[in-house]
Amino acid sequence: MTAADDHPGIVGSPAPTERVLRWPDEAATAAFAARLAAAPELRRAFIALHGDLGAGKTTLVRHLLRACGVAGRIKSPTYAVVEPHEPTDAAGAWQAWHFDFYRFDDPREWEDAGFRDIFASTGLKIAEWPEKARGVLPTPDLDLFISSDADDVRHVTLTASTATGRALLRQVADGAPPQENLYP
Ligand SMILES: Nc1ncnc2c1ncn2[C@@H]1O[C@H](COP(=O)(O)OP(=O)(O)O)[C@@H](O)[C@H]1O
Ligand SMILES: [Mg+2]
Repeated sequence: MTAADDHPGIVGSPAPTERVLRWPDEAATAAFAARLAAAPELRRAFIALHGDLGAGKTTLVRHLLRACGVAGRIKSPTYAVVEPHEPTDAAGAWQAWHFDFYRFDDPREWEDAGFRDIFASTGLKIAEWPEKARGVLPTPDLDLFISSDADDVRHVTLTASTATGRALLRQVADGAPPQENLYP
């Protein structure tokens, strides 16, 4: 990390828009989720999760919702496309929607199922398989690209496209310097 990264307010040193992280095990995924849950910006963010089946997208969402104070069993939305949640913290309840667009193939559903309204609302929108809803989905604040290597280590690239996304990136990258040098 450079001195400029430590002081994102300095004129001429824009906030970073990309980070590479490494999750050696599910505990690392959970630790990341806990840092993300602590960001106030999460409550109005749209986060898109990319990666093959088994990459760990649903696992991350479950840890994140749990860290946000969602109690009980966290159902996966695979058949329903979206699963609403109501995280509760000291300030009260707020809204979170977990999307899985794997089976989304009719853009009319975007209007009919009220997805447009959800994306116009505050609250967290987090989506698996955003590629399947290309053309109707807005630009994510933050994109996560997750891949798994032969040792089951997850390599995660985070890309921020908005001020909200950059704020989230700062939050989760705290204490985690850019790791591009790990990939010569
Ligand atoms: N960081 C990690 N390291 C090792 N295994 C993980 C990690 N994250 C998740 N897993 C495991 O890999 C699987 C990922 O499944 P899932 O989260 O359903 O993937 P996806 O939603 O991307 O298809 C789960 O069995 C989970 O326990
Ligand atoms: Mg999944």
